[in-house]
Amino acid sequence: MHTPVLLRESIEFLKVNPEGVYFDCTAGGGGHSEEIAKRLSPEGTLVCLDMDREAIERVEERLMPFKCRKYFFHRNFKDIDLIASELEVRGRVDGIIADLGTSMFQLKDFGRGFSFMGDGKLDMRMDEDADLTAKDVVNRYSEKELAFVFKEYGEEKLAKKIARMIVEQRKLNTIETTLELSEIAVKAYGSRRSKIHPATRIFQAIRIEVNGELENLKIFLEKSISLLKKGGRMVVISFHSLEDRIVKNFFRDKAKNCICPESQMRCTCGGNNAVVRVLTKKVVRPAQEEVENNPASRSARLRACEKAV
Ligand SMILES: C[S@@+](CC[C@H](N)C(=O)[O-])C[C@H]1O[C@@H](n2cnc3c(N)ncnc32)[C@H](O)[C@@H]1O
Repeated sequence: MHTPVLLRESIEFLKVNPEGVYFDCTAGGGGHSEEIAKRLSPEGTLVCLDMDREAIERVEERLMPFKCRKYFFHRNFKDIDLIASELEVRGRVDGIIADLGTSMFQLKDFGRGFSFMGDGKLDMRMDEDADLTAKDVVNRYSEKELAFVFKEYGEEKLAKKIARMIVEQRKLNTIETTLELSEIAVKAYGSRRSKIHPATRIFQAIRIEVNGELENLKIFLEKSISLLKKGGRMVVISFHSLEDRIVKNFFRDKAKNCICPESQMRCTCGGNNAVVRVLTKKVVRPAQEEVENNPASRSARLRACEKAV
């Protein structure tokens, strides 16, 4: 089971209109979708997307009892504009939510290779039809490329060392499993102290690389805003600072009235260009009680905005 994170807060920010059109772009276990569906009348519309086929099938079943109009797509949210066109809802969307990252279903199925808590083949594809796997990254990327991925997407201090150790190891044998990879990180850390498991950051980094997560997020944000109607709302929950920074900067830029280059002394753009109003002046974090009940929520950060034009 996947416990939805920041559920009450997300639903409050979405302010569900019973007859509105809503997109849950990361349907996962269906937790957020279900709360939206509960608030929709038969005239309301809920569109669920997930790039994981199992997830979207699971959510379709979970939402069976609800009477709103429902659509389910096994698609990447970076294609949200194409889906909105298919459904003829461009510019008519009341709310969009994305709860980024992996679900407990994915993490706990060791065969999918997302977790170092159990052994499984190095895969990490959210979309099992995609080509690139974690095994490809670990065994085919050059030392420099690996170090880049670990540093950029994992903010891993020992990026170079771990990359070097991986390249040494694969001269002996192909690295096939999550535990083989995690062992290398553990060895690299040796007796150094680390608050989190030494493999945490490189697993995050490889997952981001395999699924193109940061690129997808940027494309998704840009496209989503144009689908919202005036007053429509967008909620994004992220789980690490790289994603949160992208969301924060995106909302900040779209909320700017003046879009003149900073180097310019006087405003010539008219100063009336804000596309959104940011609803979360401060990022929203889970309350202590939520973290106690669901430790997986501890790094969650929510940001929301409202379409202003
Ligand atoms: C944290 S879970 C969502 C959980 C869900 N909100 C719930 O309450 O059950 C994230 C989900 O997003 C999906 N996902 C991640 N990136 C995606 C993308 N670019 N397009 C579509 N789905 C994506 C993952 O496959 C995963 O199922």
